[in-house]
Amino acid sequence: MKVLILKSAELATEAASREILSLVEAKPDCTLGLATGGTMEPVYAALRQGAGAISFAGVRSFNLDEYVGLAPDHAQSYHRYMAEQLFDHIDIRPENTHVPRGDAASPNTEARLFDEAIAAAGGIDLQLLGLGANGHIGFNEPFSSLGSRTRVKTLTRKTREDNARLFAEGEEVPTYAITMGVGTIMEARRILLVATGAHKACAVAAMIEGPVSAACPASVLQFHPQATILLDEGAASALKMRDYYDFVHPNGQDVDLG
Ligand code: GLP
Repeated sequence: MKVLILKSAELATEAASREILSLVEAKPDCTLGLATGGTMEPVYAALRQGAGAISFAGVRSFNLDEYVGLAPDHAQSYHRYMAEQLFDHIDIRPENTHVPRGDAASPNTEARLFDEAIAAAGGIDLQLLGLGANGHIGFNEPFSSLGSRTRVKTLTRKTREDNARLFAEGEEVPTYAITMGVGTIMEARRILLVATGAHKACAVAAMIEGPVSAACPASVLQFHPQATILLDEGAASALKMRDYYDFVHPNGQDVDLG
Protein backbone atom coordinates (compact mmCIF):
# COMPACT_ATOMS: atom_id res chain seq x y z
CA MET A 1 0.00 0.00 0.00
CA LYS A 2 1.22 3.46 -0.83
CA VAL A 3 0.14 5.76 2.01
CA LEU A 4 0.17 9.44 1.04
CA ILE A 5 -0.69 11.94 3.79
CA LEU A 6 -1.53 15.45 2.61
CA LYS A 7 -1.78 18.57 4.75
CA SER A 8 -5.48 19.13 3.99
CA ALA A 9 -8.55 17.42 2.60
CA GLU A 10 -8.39 19.80 -0.35
CA LEU A 11 -4.85 18.68 -1.23
CA ALA A 12 -5.79 14.99 -0.84
CA THR A 13 -8.84 15.25 -3.10
CA GLU A 14 -6.95 17.34 -5.66
CA ALA A 15 -4.24 14.67 -5.76
CA ALA A 16 -6.94 12.06 -6.47
CA SER A 17 -8.37 14.03 -9.37
CA ARG A 18 -4.87 14.58 -10.78
CA GLU A 19 -4.27 10.80 -10.77
CA ILE A 20 -7.50 10.23 -12.67
CA LEU A 21 -6.82 12.98 -15.20
CA SER A 22 -3.31 11.75 -15.88
CA LEU A 23 -4.65 8.23 -16.50
CA VAL A 24 -7.28 9.56 -18.93
CA GLU A 25 -4.60 11.58 -20.68
CA ALA A 26 -2.26 8.58 -20.96
CA LYS A 27 -5.02 6.10 -21.86
CA PRO A 28 -8.03 7.92 -23.39
CA ASP A 29 -10.00 4.66 -23.67
CA CYS A 30 -9.48 3.63 -20.06
CA THR A 31 -12.14 2.14 -17.79
CA LEU A 32 -12.69 3.92 -14.51
CA GLY A 33 -14.39 2.57 -11.39
CA LEU A 34 -16.19 5.46 -9.70
CA ALA A 35 -17.41 6.08 -6.16
CA THR A 36 -19.97 8.32 -4.50
CA GLY A 37 -20.20 10.00 -1.08
CA GLY A 38 -19.25 13.36 0.38
CA THR A 39 -15.51 12.68 0.11
CA MET A 40 -15.78 12.44 -3.67
CA GLU A 41 -17.55 15.76 -4.21
CA PRO A 42 -14.33 17.84 -4.22
CA VAL A 43 -12.63 15.10 -6.31
CA TYR A 44 -15.33 15.50 -8.97
CA ALA A 45 -15.26 19.31 -8.68
CA ALA A 46 -11.55 19.24 -9.56
CA LEU A 47 -12.22 16.71 -12.34
CA ARG A 48 -14.88 18.97 -13.87
CA GLN A 49 -12.30 21.75 -14.05
CA GLY A 50 -9.53 19.57 -15.45
CA ALA A 51 -11.82 17.86 -17.94
CA GLY A 52 -11.93 21.08 -20.00
CA ALA A 53 -8.49 20.24 -21.35
CA ILE A 54 -8.78 16.43 -21.33
CA SER A 55 -11.50 14.50 -23.18
CA PHE A 56 -13.49 11.70 -21.55
CA ALA A 57 -15.14 10.77 -24.86
CA GLY A 58 -13.39 7.39 -24.97
CA VAL A 59 -13.68 6.59 -21.26
CA ARG A 60 -15.96 3.92 -19.81
CA SER A 61 -17.05 3.96 -16.20
CA PHE A 62 -18.59 1.59 -13.68
CA ASN A 63 -19.91 2.83 -10.36
CA LEU A 64 -19.52 0.87 -7.16
CA ASP A 65 -23.08 0.80 -5.92
CA GLU A 66 -26.70 1.95 -5.87
CA TYR A 67 -29.58 1.78 -3.41
CA VAL A 68 -32.14 -0.92 -4.17
CA GLY A 69 -35.53 0.64 -4.89
CA LEU A 70 -34.29 4.04 -6.09
CA ALA A 71 -34.96 4.86 -9.76
CA PRO A 72 -32.23 6.80 -11.60
CA ASP A 73 -34.16 10.06 -11.28
CA HIS A 74 -34.59 9.77 -7.48
CA ALA A 75 -32.88 12.74 -5.81
CA GLN A 76 -30.71 10.50 -3.59
CA SER A 77 -29.90 7.86 -6.19
CA TYR A 78 -26.26 7.46 -7.13
CA HIS A 79 -27.34 7.83 -10.78
CA ARG A 80 -28.46 11.33 -9.97
CA TYR A 81 -25.36 12.02 -7.87
CA MET A 82 -23.08 11.02 -10.74
CA ALA A 83 -25.03 13.09 -13.28
CA GLU A 84 -24.91 16.16 -11.07
CA GLN A 85 -21.36 15.78 -9.82
CA LEU A 86 -19.65 14.65 -13.01
CA PHE A 87 -21.35 13.12 -16.04
CA ASP A 88 -23.45 16.15 -17.03
CA HIS A 89 -20.36 18.37 -17.02
CA ILE A 90 -17.86 16.35 -19.07
CA ASP A 91 -17.89 14.79 -22.53
CA ILE A 92 -18.20 11.16 -21.36
CA ARG A 93 -20.80 9.29 -23.47
CA PRO A 94 -23.88 8.40 -21.37
CA GLU A 95 -23.92 4.90 -22.91
CA ASN A 96 -20.38 4.35 -21.60
CA THR A 97 -21.35 5.06 -17.98
CA HIS A 98 -22.66 2.22 -15.82
CA VAL A 99 -24.35 2.56 -12.45
CA PRO A 100 -26.34 -0.46 -11.16
CA ARG A 101 -30.10 0.05 -11.61
CA GLY A 102 -31.65 0.25 -8.16
CA ASP A 103 -35.11 -0.17 -9.68
CA ALA A 104 -34.24 -3.31 -11.67
CA ALA A 105 -37.02 -5.92 -11.59
CA SER A 106 -34.47 -8.43 -10.27
CA PRO A 107 -31.66 -6.81 -8.26
CA ASN A 108 -29.81 -10.15 -8.17
CA THR A 109 -29.85 -10.40 -11.97
CA GLU A 110 -28.81 -6.74 -12.25
CA ALA A 111 -25.83 -7.47 -9.98
CA ARG A 112 -24.75 -10.52 -11.99
CA LEU A 113 -25.04 -8.64 -15.29
CA PHE A 114 -23.03 -5.75 -13.82
CA ASP A 115 -20.08 -8.04 -13.08
CA GLU A 116 -20.37 -9.51 -16.57
CA ALA A 117 -20.34 -6.02 -18.10
CA ILE A 118 -17.15 -5.14 -16.21
CA ALA A 119 -15.51 -8.32 -17.49
CA ALA A 120 -16.74 -7.63 -21.06
CA ALA A 121 -15.17 -4.16 -20.86
CA GLY A 122 -11.81 -5.80 -20.08
CA GLY A 123 -11.82 -4.95 -16.36
CA ILE A 124 -11.26 -1.70 -14.51
CA ASP A 125 -8.00 0.23 -14.91
CA LEU A 126 -8.42 2.47 -11.87
CA GLN A 127 -10.98 2.05 -9.11
CA LEU A 128 -11.72 5.11 -7.01
CA LEU A 129 -12.86 4.27 -3.47
CA GLY A 130 -14.12 6.10 -0.42
CA LEU A 131 -14.15 4.51 3.01
CA GLY A 132 -17.10 3.98 5.32
CA ALA A 133 -16.55 4.95 8.96
CA ASN A 134 -17.09 1.23 9.71
CA GLY A 135 -14.45 0.16 7.19
CA HIS A 136 -16.78 -0.58 4.29
CA ILE A 137 -15.80 -0.13 0.65
CA GLY A 138 -18.65 0.27 -1.82
CA PHE A 139 -21.46 -1.04 0.35
CA ASN A 140 -19.52 -4.09 1.51
CA GLU A 141 -20.32 -3.91 5.19
CA PRO A 142 -18.16 -5.53 7.90
CA PHE A 143 -18.07 -9.33 7.55
CA SER A 144 -18.79 -9.23 3.84
CA SER A 145 -16.99 -12.08 2.12
CA LEU A 146 -13.59 -10.86 0.98
CA GLY A 147 -14.13 -12.85 -2.23
CA SER A 148 -17.64 -11.52 -2.90
CA ARG A 149 -18.94 -10.55 -6.33
CA THR A 150 -21.41 -7.78 -7.18
CA ARG A 151 -24.59 -8.58 -5.27
CA VAL A 152 -27.32 -7.26 -3.00
CA LYS A 153 -26.20 -6.30 0.51
CA THR A 154 -28.23 -5.32 3.55
CA LEU A 155 -26.95 -2.03 4.96
CA THR A 156 -25.99 -1.74 8.63
CA ARG A 157 -27.81 0.64 10.92
CA LYS A 158 -24.57 2.68 11.20
CA THR A 159 -24.32 3.17 7.43
CA ARG A 160 -28.00 4.08 7.17
CA GLU A 161 -27.53 6.61 9.99
CA ASP A 162 -24.38 8.04 8.38
CA ASN A 163 -26.18 8.49 5.05
CA ALA A 164 -29.47 9.77 6.50
CA ARG A 165 -28.18 13.36 6.25
CA LEU A 166 -28.44 13.08 2.47
CA PHE A 167 -32.12 12.07 2.50
CA ALA A 168 -35.12 14.33 3.02
CA GLU A 169 -36.46 14.56 6.55
CA GLY A 170 -38.73 11.61 7.31
CA GLU A 171 -37.49 9.72 4.24
CA GLU A 172 -36.06 6.28 5.02
CA VAL A 173 -32.57 5.35 3.85
CA PRO A 174 -33.05 2.18 1.78
CA THR A 175 -32.26 -1.09 3.56
CA TYR A 176 -30.58 -2.79 0.59
CA ALA A 177 -27.99 -1.82 -1.99
CA ILE A 178 -26.42 -3.41 -5.04
CA THR A 179 -22.67 -3.20 -4.59
CA MET A 180 -19.61 -4.38 -6.44
CA GLY A 181 -18.20 -7.22 -4.37
CA VAL A 182 -14.90 -7.08 -2.52
CA GLY A 183 -13.53 -9.63 -4.99
CA THR A 184 -14.77 -7.53 -7.91
CA ILE A 185 -13.08 -4.42 -6.50
CA MET A 186 -9.82 -6.32 -5.95
CA GLU A 187 -9.68 -7.20 -9.67
CA ALA A 188 -9.19 -3.54 -10.62
CA ARG A 189 -5.66 -3.04 -11.91
CA ARG A 190 -5.14 0.00 -9.65
CA ILE A 191 -6.97 1.23 -6.57
CA LEU A 192 -7.13 4.82 -5.35
CA LEU A 193 -8.82 5.20 -1.96
CA VAL A 194 -9.47 8.66 -0.53
CA ALA A 195 -10.39 9.24 3.13
CA THR A 196 -10.59 12.62 4.83
CA GLY A 197 -11.57 13.75 8.33
CA ALA A 198 -10.85 12.51 11.85
CA HIS A 199 -14.11 10.52 11.90
CA LYS A 200 -12.43 8.11 9.44
CA ALA A 201 -9.21 7.72 11.51
CA CYS A 202 -10.13 4.39 13.17
CA ALA A 203 -11.28 2.82 9.92
CA VAL A 204 -8.12 4.08 8.18
CA ALA A 205 -5.86 2.58 10.87
CA ALA A 206 -7.72 -0.76 10.69
CA MET A 207 -7.45 -0.73 6.88
CA ILE A 208 -3.72 0.01 6.72
CA GLU A 209 -2.28 -1.43 9.92
CA GLY A 210 -4.89 -3.83 11.23
CA PRO A 211 -5.02 -7.53 10.46
CA VAL A 212 -6.64 -8.40 7.13
CA SER A 213 -10.12 -9.26 8.25
CA ALA A 214 -13.68 -9.14 6.99
CA ALA A 215 -14.32 -7.09 10.16
CA CYS A 216 -12.80 -4.22 8.16
CA PRO A 217 -13.46 -5.04 4.49
CA ALA A 218 -11.06 -2.28 3.34
CA SER A 219 -8.17 -4.14 5.02
CA VAL A 220 -8.19 -6.59 2.10
CA LEU A 221 -6.54 -3.81 0.08
CA GLN A 222 -3.31 -4.83 1.86
CA PHE A 223 -3.29 -7.70 -0.66
CA HIS A 224 -3.67 -5.41 -3.68
CA PRO A 225 -0.41 -4.91 -5.59
CA GLN A 226 -1.20 -1.32 -6.63
CA ALA A 227 -3.29 0.42 -3.98
CA THR A 228 -2.72 4.08 -3.16
CA ILE A 229 -4.33 5.59 -0.06
CA LEU A 230 -4.75 9.38 -0.03
CA LEU A 231 -5.38 10.86 3.42
CA ASP A 232 -5.56 14.22 5.12
CA GLU A 233 -4.15 14.84 8.61
CA GLY A 234 -7.41 13.96 10.37
CA ALA A 235 -7.87 10.63 8.61
CA ALA A 236 -4.20 9.76 9.27
CA SER A 237 -4.34 10.66 12.97
CA ALA A 238 -4.61 7.11 14.38
CA LEU A 239 -1.81 5.53 12.32
CA LYS A 240 0.98 3.95 14.41
CA MET A 241 3.60 4.18 11.63
CA ARG A 242 2.75 7.77 10.77
CA ASP A 243 6.43 8.91 10.93
CA TYR A 244 7.45 6.23 8.49
CA TYR A 245 4.80 7.15 5.90
CA ASP A 246 5.93 10.79 6.12
CA PHE A 247 9.56 9.72 5.74
CA VAL A 248 8.77 7.62 2.64
CA HIS A 249 6.45 10.21 1.07
CA PRO A 250 7.23 13.69 2.48
CA ASN A 251 4.10 15.86 2.32
CA GLY A 252 2.31 13.01 0.59
CA GLN A 253 4.52 13.26 -2.47
CA ASP A 254 5.15 10.17 -4.51
CA VAL A 255 8.89 9.58 -4.76
CA ASP A 256 10.00 7.65 -7.83
CA LEU A 257 13.35 5.95 -7.31
CA GLY A 258 13.37 4.73 -10.90
C1 GLP B 1 -21.15 5.43 1.26
C2 GLP B 1 -20.79 4.78 -0.09
C3 GLP B 1 -19.33 4.50 -0.17
C4 GLP B 1 -18.60 5.71 0.36
C5 GLP B 1 -18.78 5.79 1.84
C6 GLP B 1 -18.20 7.04 2.48
O1 GLP B 1 -22.10 4.74 1.99
N1 GLP B 1 -21.50 3.59 -0.45
O2 GLP B 1 -18.95 4.19 -1.51
O3 GLP B 1 -17.22 5.60 0.12
O4 GLP B 1 -20.12 5.57 2.21
O5 GLP B 1 -19.01 8.15 2.28
P1 GLP B 1 -18.55 9.62 2.63
O6 GLP B 1 -17.50 9.98 1.67
O7 GLP B 1 -19.79 10.45 2.47
O8 GLP B 1 -18.05 9.59 4.03
